[in-house]
Amino acid sequence: MNAVPTLVHTSRNLSGHDSVAGLPHDDSIIRLQDVHRTFGTDRGACTALRAITLDIPRGDLIAVVGPSGSGKTSLLNIMGGIDKPSRGSVRVENQDLMTMGEARLSDLRLRRIGFVFQDARLIPVLTVAESVEFPLLFRSEISSVERKRKVSRVLERVGLADKHESAGNALRRRGL
Ligand SMILES: Nc1ncnc2c1ncn2[C@@H]1O[C@H](COP(=O)(O)OP(=O)(O)O)[C@@H](O)[C@H]1O
Ligand SMILES: [Mg+2]
Repeated sequence: MNAVPTLVHTSRNLSGHDSVAGLPHDDSIIRLQDVHRTFGTDRGACTALRAITLDIPRGDLIAVVGPSGSGKTSLLNIMGGIDKPSRGSVRVENQDLMTMGEARLSDLRLRRIGFVFQDARLIPVLTVAESVEFPLLFRSEISSVERKRKVSRVLERVGLADKHESAGNALRRRGL
């Protein structure tokens, strides 16, 4: 495959391939080193990612752009601890994802990783507030009072407070 995903850096001129050669950045949020991802298919192996090395400093805003099939989703799945590379090293906030078990990975995803999908992927039977509350139910250290407070706070911030309709309806309304 000749198309590869490209990192577009909005605040500094950092290309994906030249940043790791030097000393490790203490403020790195994500570091990939020589990451490969190969999928087995009916028609043989498909290499989605080949030798990806990059270092994303904390606070940076990065866009990954590239044509369909260039490996963007494969890359994000690996950065988000959803998938593992066939080869290479992945660190998020200085933790080595390759040595983490499923329980620690799922804890990292719960607390530190957020995905916003193009199609909202909401649970249609839940209200907007319940949808926001849902992931917080897995965080046992947050009391129900604090949970409700957090939900109101974020809904207010995005202008969705006082909306009691189901997430499915909100979505359909938006579609209209
Ligand atoms: N689970 C999978 N099994 C087999 N091939 C896959 C799988 N996921 C992705 N691929 C292949 O890897 C390449 C990159 O895919 P993907 O990461 O989805 O690209 P993008 O998100 O940029 O469109 C494509 O050739 C795709 O067909
Ligand atoms: Mg994709």
